[in-house]
Amino acid sequence: MTVKIYVPRDAAAIALGAEKVAKAMADEIAARGLDATIVRNGSRGMHWLEPLVEVETAEGRIAYGPVKARDVASLLDAGLVDGGAHPLCLGKAEEIPFFKRQTRLTFARCGITDPLSLEDYRAHGGLRGLEKAVSMQPAAIVAEVTESGLRGRGGAGFPTGIKWKTVLEARGKQKYIVCNADEGDSGTFADRMIMEGDPFVLIEGMAIAGIATGATKGYVYTRSEYPHAIAAMTEAIEIARAAGVLGASVLGSTHAFDMEVRTGAGAYVCGEETSLLNSLEGKRGLVRAKPPLPAHKGLFDCPTVINNVISLASVPVILDEGAAYYRDFGMGRSRGTIPIQIAGNVKHGGLFEIGFGLTLGEIVDEIAGGTASGRPVKAVQVGGPLGAYFPRALFDTPFDYEAFAAKDGLIGHAGIVVFDDTADMLKQARFAMEFCAVESCGKCTPCRIGSTRGVEVADKIRAGIEPEKNRELLADLCNTMKFGSLCALGGFTPYPVMSAMTHFPEDFEPAPAVEAAE
Ligand SMILES: Cc1cc2nc3c(=O)[nH]c(=O)nc-3n(C[C@H](O)[C@H](O)[C@H](O)COP(=O)(O)O)c2cc1C
Ligand code: SF4
Repeated sequence: MTVKIYVPRDAAAIALGAEKVAKAMADEIAARGLDATIVRNGSRGMHWLEPLVEVETAEGRIAYGPVKARDVASLLDAGLVDGGAHPLCLGKAEEIPFFKRQTRLTFARCGITDPLSLEDYRAHGGLRGLEKAVSMQPAAIVAEVTESGLRGRGGAGFPTGIKWKTVLEARGKQKYIVCNADEGDSGTFADRMIMEGDPFVLIEGMAIAGIATGATKGYVYTRSEYPHAIAAMTEAIEIARAAGVLGASVLGSTHAFDMEVRTGAGAYVCGEETSLLNSLEGKRGLVRAKPPLPAHKGLFDCPTVINNVISLASVPVILDEGAAYYRDFGMGRSRGTIPIQIAGNVKHGGLFEIGFGLTLGEIVDEIAGGTASGRPVKAVQVGGPLGAYFPRALFDTPFDYEAFAAKDGLIGHAGIVVFDDTADMLKQARFAMEFCAVESCGKCTPCRIGSTRGVEVADKIRAGIEPEKNRELLADLCNTMKFGSLCALGGFTPYPVMSAMTHFPEDFEPAPAVEAAE
């Protein structure tokens, strides 16, 4: 039987040499006349082991990593096709502790299947949710999603079912499903990973959303920096259309749904839903005032569902397994699983999907394995560039929307970026203000002007100019931005700034004067 060897086509693996590994593997297989084929899978999300090569054996999939092109010959000499021993052998892929501890619902197939094989997708449970949906009443689908407790994974944590209900009940000749795949948060890559590693799950989720709300057209809005995701999504849509998953009759039903990919130019603010809609309409990415809500008047003034990739990609498993199954995972009002993206100064960076409720300390110390530098962890920024910095004293905070809000933080898109004790938190606070100034859409004054003033004030503190007065001024400015900004770009920039100042006050003191040499 032909042996299957898996070499990821995920952008992170490619950045680490996966294309060269795949080529070297293909050349060696041909030269040795081996009966083996290479499958370009997605990533399992263990970035420090990429490129992670796997081989299918009678005992399961055996993993090797991180593999370089120059390792390929020795791997084959060691009998890789039979899962042979080699210094890079990691044993069974599913038994690697980082992977084994996870609960993979949304990412169940990512890294396992061939992302562009609809057959493989079906063989691993794909399309079961959509098959159920086509035989259900729209209101029953919406009720199922509501009961699952799914909340938007893009940042705000708004209940997905309620958003869908509003669009279902809105009147309009045309309705749209817009998938927010702009993924601008620092240290986040879950959307990219799913689009590259399991694009059909997003297509299935969007088709279900269309049937549930009466929308017949969908758009995936992503960024130009994601060429591999754009290519995978575009190809998967064509395959789905050819197979009758998309089109005038979804899976042979009376429901029509089709979709396409649109690429933005990479402005952070274009991830904000109303700015995204403007960009999708070909206009400048300026934030719109709400109301009207996009659910009432969204794309081209039509009722529109805007959901994050992970929100939509979590829907198929909810329809397939039922709301109660999904709701059983998690804690408090944070139900289901969350793909935590671990980045920054860590030993084990990557994607870790698990039910809500793990503490920040468990994630940083146990799962991420502490810092790559080996130095003590100083701060963890959770939730992207607008998220708060958490000190070790807050490591007992469980990963839960309400628990983070209670500590003046946010989960956002569930990205965490770890810093060691060399981090300068005044510099980080200044960076937050500078980022806001650069990315501001310019529509409202607290954000447009406030962020620039914020940079100036941070510089004055650094220069030791009236530090106490300027610290007060910075806090006052944050207060104005928090309560006076139109959207969360200006409104949330105070989170990183204030958390840095509150938890690391020593970094906001003037540097001690260097004593003159005697
Ligand atoms: C400045 C800014 C940037 C945002 N960027 C993203 C993004 O990249 N991806 C995303 O899904 N949501 C982003 N959001 C949140 C969206 O406005 C919106 O809440 C989300 O797309 C709704 O989908 P959900 O309910 O599934 O989370 C951003 C919000 C703001 C204020
Ligand atoms: S807060 Fe900033 S990004 Fe948001 S609307 Fe105002 S100026 Fe634009």
